[in-house]
Amino acid sequence: MMQQSVLLGIDLGASKISAVVAVREQEDTTALRVTGASLTNQPTGIRQGQITDINSTVEAIRRVVEEALRTAGQIRPDGVLVTVDGIQFKGENLRDTVTISSLDRVITIHDRDRVMEQATNTCKLTKEETVLHKNPQWFHIKGQRDIKNPINMIGDTLEAEVRIIIAPASVLENINRALHLSELQSPRLCYSPIASAQAVLSREDAENGAVVVDIGDQLTHIGVFMSGSLFHSAVIAIGGSHFTRDIEAMKHLGGIKVAERIKRLYGTVLPSGVPAEEMIELEDEGRQVSRRELAEVLQSRAVELLNMVLAEIGRSGIMHEIHGGVHLVGGGALLPHLPILAQHLLGRPRVVLGKVSGLHGLPQIVANPFFTNALGAVKVLSEDLNETFFQPGKPNGIIDWVKGLF
Ligand SMILES: Nc1ncnc2c1ncn2[C@@H]1O[C@H](COP(=O)(O)OP(=O)(O)OP(=O)(O)O)[C@@H](O)[C@H]1O
Ligand SMILES: [Mg+2]
Repeated sequence: MMQQSVLLGIDLGASKISAVVAVREQEDTTALRVTGASLTNQPTGIRQGQITDINSTVEAIRRVVEEALRTAGQIRPDGVLVTVDGIQFKGENLRDTVTISSLDRVITIHDRDRVMEQATNTCKLTKEETVLHKNPQWFHIKGQRDIKNPINMIGDTLEAEVRIIIAPASVLENINRALHLSELQSPRLCYSPIASAQAVLSREDAENGAVVVDIGDQLTHIGVFMSGSLFHSAVIAIGGSHFTRDIEAMKHLGGIKVAERIKRLYGTVLPSGVPAEEMIELEDEGRQVSRRELAEVLQSRAVELLNMVLAEIGRSGIMHEIHGGVHLVGGGALLPHLPILAQHLLGRPRVVLGKVSGLHGLPQIVANPFFTNALGAVKVLSEDLNETFFQPGKPNGIIDWVKGLF
């Protein structure tokens, strides 16, 4: 029997923690099968990506991991990847050049690592900051630009363009502490837009320019991909909870819980599609509220958020090269008609609700938007196994080292 690898992906969010178990035959690089999953909406002890109550975080992680493994019929995973993000995460594009000093001028893994390291070091980090990812975008040698993988090529110099993701050391340390207390063996961390992209973008999308927009509970994360690499990333301090708070503040629906329920049941961001006379019954309040007026409140928050998303895509400098579409993920993206409004505001790039592809098994989990990032995490782990299998000398992990997550 072929040996199997059991992969565990975990998504840490403010409103939920989800976990997915997937298995793959160690030598079959394509078949990744989802065999278990779990999600909890109990307090996660996380706010804007930072742990604020570690006991709650540990309890929630333990519960989802136990349940996901149990449903998968597994005892322990062979690899664990946890998606992280937050208000304090940031990214920078850097570049630097090294000389190839060997006699035959053949570029080695060591040269590639050296130029990546040197480019990374051009960023002046504060004491509190740490580099979570180094993603190569392009390599250049004298006389030839835009090389994906320079190893084994000949050159006098090697230049690298790299995007690094920086996070506060203490934030990552405490996430690692929570994972340790949850008794997870050697978990690795992955910036969530990278996992979202791995989940919903096809190789062609990421090559041709594509954007993932993860609208969470408190935050929205953006990743802009081009030629298979991360070119721009950003976080916006608006998420689904802001929509809920807006309708409660403007329409006094009877508290945040009621407002959340009404948002999910009757919410839309297209007021023009709602008949003017349509009313929603507020049973506890003994009155009615206009559904169109509710939609107007939701629409104005959506316009604010989407304009900020548009500005970030603009900042990436490749707005006109987005041929692979804008893919909306995260629970906040479930607000009806958001893709239509986004299409209208963003203009030319195609806007779609992100759909996870490339995974077999448990279709109800693969299609459930609350598992998107955890599913992306197992896909990243699986890609990582491919790389280790094909390039045994490669340093730790595709997420930092391989040109192209795709
Ligand atoms: N059907 C729905 N319609 C509109 N909004 C929804 C719907 N279902 C969930 N949401 C919103 O999705 C948000 C939660 O999304 P998600 O689970 O992606 O966030 P999270 O990962 O926990 O948070 P964060 O990424 O900010 O840490 C909530 O604010 C919720 O109101
Ligand atoms: Mg999230």
